[in-house]
Amino acid sequence: MQTITSIAELREVLGAERRAGKRIGLVPTMGNLHEGHIQLVHQCNDNSDITVSSIFVNPLQFGENEDLDAYPRTLQADQQKLEAADCDYLFAPNIEEIYPNGQVIQTQVEVPGISDIHCGATRPGHFRGVATVVCKLFGIVQPDVAIFGEKDFQQLMVIRRMTEDLFLPVEIQGSPIARADNGLALSSRNGYLSETELAVAPALNSTIRETVSRIEAGERDYAALEEAAQAALEESGFQRDYYRICRRHDLQSPSTEDTELVLIAAAYLGKARLIDNMVIDI
Ligand code: PAJ
Repeated sequence: MQTITSIAELREVLGAERRAGKRIGLVPTMGNLHEGHIQLVHQCNDNSDITVSSIFVNPLQFGENEDLDAYPRTLQADQQKLEAADCDYLFAPNIEEIYPNGQVIQTQVEVPGISDIHCGATRPGHFRGVATVVCKLFGIVQPDVAIFGEKDFQQLMVIRRMTEDLFLPVEIQGSPIARADNGLALSSRNGYLSETELAVAPALNSTIRETVSRIEAGERDYAALEEAAQAALEESGFQRDYYRICRRHDLQSPSTEDTELVLIAAAYLGKARLIDNMVIDI
């Protein structure tokens, strides 16, 4: 695997690959890689000839009081994991490479409708930052296919919508949530948890599964189910963010007629903000 930090150099090597008829796949990440990220790399290998992973902790998607400075940076270990997963190129640019004109006065990509609810309500501007950097990465790499995790359900929706609205010539693929045996969705932010908190953290997923089985058993008072789950999570030691049963196609509140749903949730545990989701077919 070759690690490349400059856009010009990456374009040169990928240009040669493209001229040789190779299909190029992209796996964007912020590093501190775990099995969830590596699963995306494997999926990319299966769906392209050349896999490019990027590692860039994107300041534009972090709020002022969020964990930009604390976000774990583990480049060497990440390189080893990518190498072992048969990744072909790692693109690891610095901030000036991606934001040469600064982060304020420059083009930003806004995906209205789904960017200001749920995670977007708690983290104003977050999805603008995500859409902007992913659009830049698409422009830099010009991938045929790009893989994103379903763990970030709303993010995947924002990226699909952006790609569709801007006619970007890239196929977007989702990849299922990779979990620990106890159900906890793998996340770089799990590293913020103490041992005690790590024992509590799987309750987010077990609570979601409990709500989903109650819906599958016929319960339809979604507001009551949400409130009961939030209270149970608080009881376990979480602090509330949101816990919503939504229509899957637009993440709005469902009516009792809607059959394709998703439960999306975020909750604080110690220094970490954990997210998880589960789709529900009625
Ligand atoms: P990051 O949190 O590093 O995640 C990179 C990719 O890995 C995302 O597509 C995310 O959904 C996926 N991922 C993370 N944990 C996962 C899990 N447990 N199972 C399956 N997939 C998982 O998401 C970002 O970075 C950034 O917002 C980014 C898209 C790179 C833009 O900066």
